[in-house]
Amino acid sequence: MNDDIESAVYNLSIASTAASTYLSSHTPTPSETIDISSLYTNYATSLSLLPNLSSALIFYEKSLSLNPTSLDTQYYLALTYQDLSKFSLAISGYLKIIKLDPLHWESLSNLSSLHYDLKHYEKAILSYESSIDLFLTTTPPTNPPGDVKGVLSDLYYRYGLSIIYFNDDFKDGECIRENQKVNCDDLARYAFSRSLDLRFNVESEHYLNTLTEGVEIEKVGNEYVKKLFDDYALNFEESLKDDLGYKGFKIMREFFEEIVVGGGGKDVVDLGCGTGLVGEEFKGISKSLACIDLSLKIIERCKELRPKLYDEYIQGDFLEGLIEGDVYVAGDSFIYFGDLKPLFKRMFEKLREEGYVVFTLERGGGKTWKLTRSGRFEHAESYVLQSLEEVGFEVLGYKRMDGFRIERGKDVKGNVYVARKAKTKSSKGRRGEF
Ligand SMILES: C[S@@+](CC[C@H](N)C(=O)[O-])C[C@H]1O[C@@H](n2cnc3c(N)ncnc32)[C@H](O)[C@@H]1O
Repeated sequence: MNDDIESAVYNLSIASTAASTYLSSHTPTPSETIDISSLYTNYATSLSLLPNLSSALIFYEKSLSLNPTSLDTQYYLALTYQDLSKFSLAISGYLKIIKLDPLHWESLSNLSSLHYDLKHYEKAILSYESSIDLFLTTTPPTNPPGDVKGVLSDLYYRYGLSIIYFNDDFKDGECIRENQKVNCDDLARYAFSRSLDLRFNVESEHYLNTLTEGVEIEKVGNEYVKKLFDDYALNFEESLKDDLGYKGFKIMREFFEEIVVGGGGKDVVDLGCGTGLVGEEFKGISKSLACIDLSLKIIERCKELRPKLYDEYIQGDFLEGLIEGDVYVAGDSFIYFGDLKPLFKRMFEKLREEGYVVFTLERGGGKTWKLTRSGRFEHAESYVLQSLEEVGFEVLGYKRMDGFRIERGKDVKGNVYVARKAKTKSSKGRRGEF
């Protein structure tokens, strides 16, 4: 595939150089102008596949200087600006196309995603509404997609998310649809339901649950978590540390050190290892370090960022595939479980005697747990402590660590817990026999 692109780039570069030489000494006819413009566009598109985006930009611009009305070239140019994170140029590019062709759904839909990514939720809402409306009229949009239902389902999902975030930022609960005031949560529920009707997807199902009173969820579905982190893998760590100010992994290590002084030579298992931030902290006390994670892409990213950090990588659910160990560490990964008892029970069964568990959770009020609008669970402190003790753990310590992560400018409330599996009396006896 790469060889094909490279040979296309090579051939098109020769043709483009010849065309530029021709232009420098001739005035092209109208049809030559169109041909040369298309040649530059094709060359730019091949360059962008390499990817050599900055050179692609030059040739899209050259192409447009010859044929300014080509919508395709304008669209590719805007896409390239978007890929190069030149967001305001990409936005003005899409707006220009929409002005020329109001049915250009790809531009409208990309414009919506751009507003969403830039956290301009109010603009994203309006733009998603226009994108959706394009598919609901009798006139088909320009270049309609093959899978209209799939595209529309995705648009409704993103529309729903924009409404949730807009509402959370402004907190007045009021949205406008077709010049009418409507409750934002109702509108978001409608959007997720429409998305599900058009094509089932775990994301819309999940967010619809977060907005539906009385839905009893004990655990976020593995499929959703896997997809979330597969999609997020590439930017995960940058976003977690730089945008969300995540420091749970450091707090866990410091708190463990405070409570369990010294120690080493342990078989440490990192539950939901992500890119290895927690594993790196606990490497020092380990004889062996294992990672279990649902997301294959995040494991691959972990290997890229921290080669050979773990001795073993297991892709799967840590509830089902837990292995024996002396210390279980879990940073920000139990927040996808509501009911913690099955998980605590499983850890108690597989943990060796005198082993430890160290984990973080988001803290909430109430008596047990709650699936919040963030799509994650929060847990009452008393519920966590009681559940640990019920399955047999001895709680060695826990503390609040509010601000261990920031969400849309606000400190997330959280706790870190350390518990131990005490030596059983019968095994003490057996040991005494040696
Ligand atoms: C927010 S990330 C935290 C990563 C890492 N522990 C850290 O603190 O940087 C949560 C990770 O837990 C993983 N995860 C969540 N539920 C899981 C499950 N049931 N089994 C395995 N991995 C899970 C996710 O795939 C994701 O990589």
